[in-house]
Amino acid sequence: MAFVTFVICIAGPLLAAASGSWISVPISGQANLTDATETYFNYAPIMVGTPPQVVDMTINTYSSLLAAFAEDCTLCAGSTFFDQSQSSTFGSSNRTWSASSSQLTGSYFEDSVGFGNSLTVDKANFVLIENMALNMTPHLLNGNLGLFVDNSNSTEESLSYFSQLWNTGKLLNPVIGMRFYPENPKLTIGALDPADYEGEINWVQMETPNESWDLLNLFKIDGFKGYNGSFFPFGSTDTLTAINSVYNNIGIPNNFPYLFNDDYTGPITGGKHLMADSPDFAYQCNETIPYVAVTTVINGVDYQIDSTWNLLHPPSGEAFEGGCLVGLQNITEGREPTIVLGLAFLRSVYVAYRFPTDNCPGYYGFAFPSGANRTQAQIAQKPTSTPSSSSQCLSLTAPTSTPTFSAGSATSASGLSSQTYEVYGRPGAAQVPLIGVNDLPKGVWDQPQPEPE
Ligand SMILES: *[C@@H]1O[C@H](CO)[C@@H](O)[C@H](O)[C@H]1NC(C)=O
Ligand SMILES: *[C@@H]1O[C@H](CO)[C@@H](O)[C@H](O)[C@H]1NC(C)=O
Ligand SMILES: *[C@@H]1O[C@H](CO)[C@@H](O)[C@H](O)[C@H]1NC(C)=O
Ligand SMILES: *[C@@H]1O[C@H](CO)[C@@H](O)[C@H](O)[C@H]1NC(C)=O
Ligand SMILES: *[C@@H]1O[C@H](CO)[C@@H](O)[C@H](O)[C@H]1NC(C)=O
Ligand SMILES: *[C@@H]1O[C@H](CO)[C@@H](O)[C@H](O)[C@H]1NC(C)=O
Ligand SMILES: *[C@@H]1O[C@H](CO)[C@@H](O)[C@H](O)[C@H]1NC(C)=O
Ligand SMILES: *[C@@H]1O[C@H](CO)[C@@H](O)[C@H](O)[C@H]1NC(C)=O
Repeated sequence: MAFVTFVICIAGPLLAAASGSWISVPISGQANLTDATETYFNYAPIMVGTPPQVVDMTINTYSSLLAAFAEDCTLCAGSTFFDQSQSSTFGSSNRTWSASSSQLTGSYFEDSVGFGNSLTVDKANFVLIENMALNMTPHLLNGNLGLFVDNSNSTEESLSYFSQLWNTGKLLNPVIGMRFYPENPKLTIGALDPADYEGEINWVQMETPNESWDLLNLFKIDGFKGYNGSFFPFGSTDTLTAINSVYNNIGIPNNFPYLFNDDYTGPITGGKHLMADSPDFAYQCNETIPYVAVTTVINGVDYQIDSTWNLLHPPSGEAFEGGCLVGLQNITEGREPTIVLGLAFLRSVYVAYRFPTDNCPGYYGFAFPSGANRTQAQIAQKPTSTPSSSSQCLSLTAPTSTPTFSAGSATSASGLSSQTYEVYGRPGAAQVPLIGVNDLPKGVWDQPQPEPE
């Protein structure tokens, strides 16, 4: 008892003085967004166990799950796994994983989990995956770093990793910065780095319609604009939207009103083509590179979505010869979320996530990635409204210095190779980067022939 009191006495003043730290973590991903829709997303190096093992987990904004793939996991995809037998602090957890399924089977355990050396939770609950279905989509690599904090039924043992960091006074702010922009992509945990974005952060409160609501990261957007700057309809007036970093495209209930109206698409030299048996369409792109005009409007601010090799995928065998798929895709209607903003969107903006804590709901904040091709007029746009609890929940402490990130010797943060490779069975398709290829033993093909005697 005396010990508990002592801890509380220390924690109080420390929190009041805005203690805690933050970290900036480089993430890896694809240079171009491609048609390879089931895998190759973005990865962050997470340290698990004692001594720490670096696991490049898939960053998943559409999930609250923290999960590593076990060393002996059946059919788990990736290159970095967690070997519990090598960790002296690995232990059982009394938490049961209710979402265990035939797609992904595993159980909760406890161990030390951290980003770098300062942001570590000693007994973090995480799921160790023991089996993954071959047909699971999206095909996660190396595990799952859920970047959604599920506060709906928070009890002591179900607290998320990020809530635990905050509750133990380790974080400067309850916030995560996400820069998926392909140049210098990174996560910041505990603060937003002003060097990562431009413009005002446009905060939008997240939606939790009722107590038993168990859907994830929903919020509202104003809609989408096409080429001529006017809103285009997309089938439904109900606009609950989610961001999803393990989905490449922009998902709407119906892409036809856009596709079949030149006012919205603008002139497309070479024409627009529907794909057979898929919710996709493509533009001819072998003579001129067409521009896909789609702008997401959130709280009165226009966020243009980058077109070339982003919303317009690079040429590949998935479209017709000379064609490029457009990532404005139909998703199932009549089911929430109505709109899913995937990587084509996330790579065009900067996103801040103020996760929920006791007295504050969750918020997403949007801004422009620094270094991106945006005009001063775009950057100067002002949000229509400000959330009502801003002063209480959204006054963040600015960082004073940049912490250095270290993932020990295994900084496989780069994960994906810089070189790209052809895909077997898909001649002419876009080449893809590979994970862990640099660790493979290299064959030596140019052995000098022995000198003749
Ligand atoms: C799980 O363990 C924690 C701490 O070890 C304890 O506080 C909690 O009550 C336990 N929960 C259950 C459901 O046993
Ligand atoms: C909560 O909202 C969902 C979605 O609108 C609805 O299906 C469900 O019935 C609601 N539950 C309650 C208890 O109101
Ligand atoms: C939260 O608790 C309620 C009541 O116990 C339950 O019906 C609901 O499914 C829980 N939601 C989640 C997300 O666990
Ligand atoms: C843009 O397209 C829509 C839909 O056809 C049309 O109603 C609107 O007048 C157009 N606006 C401009 C400025 O051309
Ligand atoms: C998109 O959905 C609409 C409405 O359900 C449907 O009419 C259309 O065929 C779909 N588009 C594609 C490309 O499949
Ligand atoms: C992106 O794709 C385009 C078209 O295939 C290609 O020219 C370019 O080199 C790619 N960029 C990178 C960094 O892979
Ligand atoms: C581009 O693709 C179209 C359609 O497949 C084809 O007819 C045309 O010849 C191609 N042009 C070039 C320059 O390859
Ligand atoms: C920058 O964006 C403008 C449209 O806003 C476009 O015309 C131009 O090609 C873009 N430049 C680059 C380098 O992407």
